[in-house]
Amino acid sequence: MRRWVLPAGVTDIDGMVLEDVAMPVPGPGEVRIRVHAVSLNYRDQFVLSEADPMVWRTPGRDLVPVSDGAGAVDAIGDGVTEWAVGDRVTPLYFRDWFSGLPESDTGRGLGSLDEDGLLAEYVVLPASRLTRAPETLDYAQAATLPCAGLTAWSALKGDRPSGPGTSVLVLGTGGVSLLALVLARAAGARVVATTSQDAKREHLARLGVTDVVNYRETPEWGQAVADRFGGVDRVVNSVGTREMTQSVTALRRGGEVSLLGLFSIAGETMDPSLLIFKGAVVRAIGVGSAADHADLVRFIDTHQVTPPIGRRFRFEDAKDAWRAQASPEVFGKVVIDVA
Ligand SMILES: NC(=O)c1ccc[n+]([C@@H]2O[C@H](COP(=O)([O-])OP(=O)(O)OC[C@H]3O[C@@H](n4cnc5c(N)ncnc54)[C@H](OP(=O)(O)O)[C@@H]3O)[C@@H](O)[C@H]2O)c1
Repeated sequence: MRRWVLPAGVTDIDGMVLEDVAMPVPGPGEVRIRVHAVSLNYRDQFVLSEADPMVWRTPGRDLVPVSDGAGAVDAIGDGVTEWAVGDRVTPLYFRDWFSGLPESDTGRGLGSLDEDGLLAEYVVLPASRLTRAPETLDYAQAATLPCAGLTAWSALKGDRPSGPGTSVLVLGTGGVSLLALVLARAAGARVVATTSQDAKREHLARLGVTDVVNYRETPEWGQAVADRFGGVDRVVNSVGTREMTQSVTALRRGGEVSLLGLFSIAGETMDPSLLIFKGAVVRAIGVGSAADHADLVRFIDTHQVTPPIGRRFRFEDAKDAWRAQASPEVFGKVVIDVA
């Protein structure tokens, strides 16, 4: 079987290598999955870089990248009773985070540090590391859920979950933002979006969002959202701490910012007293637990939510998929068809 590997020390996608290796065999408590599709996140660009301030690679270790994917159970090891051959599954992003708050080190997700990821024709994972794929999604759509989908889902929860009568601002049109957009709309919330690309307004309109602010032309976009749309109940800040002042400015009184972006994690940030005057709450998001993922799957099946897919690549063209993921033109998730 074939798998893509980032050799130790390689920090450019051109150095990723396609290997032919023996078929992995599931041991006791493990399951082998035939991977059908994977999708890329910005974190898969971080995983390439060893210069990033957060450590995503274990030095000296080759790594099979990519956290997000979907496939079918292909073989089961001794003692596995919860899965059967043919079951459609996606992996859970984190190890050992089943519900509530994480109690131990969850790692940084599949396809980083010491955990090989999904960019292979077959992978073996502990049975407890899987969850069922939504019945209403195909493999490519289900492949967007482990990191991007679950992060978006977690970002819409909180003291006042996004739903009818509430409004949500999503920042930019990246993968997490678009998943938050479609989930929030399915929940009945009104959605406002920012983008730097006016060409993307048409795509946003197709997803039902016409309240859009260009954040490059309007650096005070938070004030613009407050002035034009009366402020929002929630901002999904998928950019980073540098955007906190504008995020809180965009809120209505008592609103909430879900802070998850790692594009800007240092430098200029907000005066915390702004929160007092707004009665605002900031919640930090770290993807989510297995229980949250199960809730997401139920919600998708109930509300027929379709994750937006921007581009699809063949397994052999995985390097081009990385380039597409980094491009400002892409709208929707970048998927690699593996099977
Ligand atoms: N905390 C967590 O659990 C968690 C989980 C997943 C991801 N993340 C982080 O969340 C961020 C988004 O991830 P992703 O995979 O969705 O990224 P992505 O798909 O690569 O997002 C790219 C898009 O982000 C938008 N963007 C970039 N800079 C922006 C800015 N200053 N203001 C507004 N929008 C901006 C742009 O949208 P336009 O082209 O429309 O301008 C760009 O096209 C990353 O930093 C990632 O590491 C965190």
